[in-house]
Amino acid sequence: MDRRLQRQGLLTELAAAHGTPLYVYDLAAVRRNLEPFECFDSVRYAVKANSNLAVLRTLRDGGARCEVVSAGEIERARAAGFEPDEMVYTADLMDRSARELVAELGLHVNAGSASMLEDIAELRGAVDVTLRVNPGFGEGHDMKVTTGGPHSKHGIWHEELPAVRRRAEALGLRVTGLHVHIGSGLEGRFIERTVEAMDPAVALFGETLLRVSCGGGMSFPYRPGATPFDMQRFAAIWSVGRERWSRSLGRPIQLEAEPGRLLVADAGVLLTEVCGVKSTGREGSSFVLVDAGFHTMIRPLLYGSFHRISALAGGDRPTTPKMVAGPLCESADVFTQGKGGAPEPQELPDLERGELLVIHDVGAYGAAMASCYNSRPLPAEVVIHPDGSTLLARPAMDPNQLLALEQEALG
Ligand SMILES: Cc1ncc(COP(=O)(O)O)c(C=O)c1O
Repeated sequence: MDRRLQRQGLLTELAAAHGTPLYVYDLAAVRRNLEPFECFDSVRYAVKANSNLAVLRTLRDGGARCEVVSAGEIERARAAGFEPDEMVYTADLMDRSARELVAELGLHVNAGSASMLEDIAELRGAVDVTLRVNPGFGEGHDMKVTTGGPHSKHGIWHEELPAVRRRAEALGLRVTGLHVHIGSGLEGRFIERTVEAMDPAVALFGETLLRVSCGGGMSFPYRPGATPFDMQRFAAIWSVGRERWSRSLGRPIQLEAEPGRLLVADAGVLLTEVCGVKSTGREGSSFVLVDAGFHTMIRPLLYGSFHRISALAGGDRPTTPKMVAGPLCESADVFTQGKGGAPEPQELPDLERGELLVIHDVGAYGAAMASCYNSRPLPAEVVIHPDGSTLLARPAMDPNQLLALEQEALG
């Protein structure tokens, strides 16, 4: 985590000024997180990880392109300054809202299903396309984010590629890109296998191929002491593939990375206020009740993901294991849970009402996955600029907005 996000005074001021729950992003950290990706020919940010416009602008200014997966993300990327030729639209289907924008802006499409080829040809004519390959295996920090293998809905099954080539040719589409993304939270067990799995695809589309995207999914070390992702090894193994393909095809093949999490995870914290404490008197049942819940940050509930939690006031107070839970009318609304909802208390001091807790490393898939469950408005997001100035980049949703559409409909 960046030093600026550890500055108690600044975070206390921001919480006082904007209320809680509050996401705070350090844009200098976002910018710095691009550096390890300089060994690739290009880096394409997966907007879904954190689509705040200030974050998107920072990554664009840092030289990243972007990957978008919905009409809404296309609009966001445009609002952040990305040109249409800096975007790739990735999907396994073409919904109506995206069809219009893909056609209007002439977006390059990364097709995750063979059936999309007809859609692309109909919308855009004889254009260049990328194919997302399902190599037959996957990996991820959870089954729910494993995106390769026979049970994944993503990508074109590797054995179907020869038929897909014939279909693309018949439609006049030129396959200039191949993409593979086997899951999120990769530890690197399958890097060699993934590169090798791309060999037949590269040979099959060699006549027109310009670029291979090795996807994103690089793991982030959420737990203290966890091993950081070995980017050098990852890039080195993929570079061996790129050299082999460039040699065999007799022209340079570009290698692109498509990270989300690793660019933003440690750049964000979530501030939440302690609203009460309680206990059943049994071991592991000391609860700290806070104003953020799974409507604010759903990763622990959805994946059993660990996020370190600390008391902002810090100090040398003695700690005991405590559960941290939110305000929702759901027993699943607990931040300190592992897989399957197993309690995973964290060491915290005894806390007073009104104290602030910091939930760490929430820059990726935090605010981006927030909801209005229990009719609670979306939280505010503040950014700290590289010069230290701060900006309320997105105010909390006005509770009236939650009602407005329905009130309008009812008349
Ligand atoms: C196609 C694609 N590319 C890139 C990413 C980014 O993954 P991560 O945030 O784990 O790096 C995702 C995430 O789901 C994805 O589906």
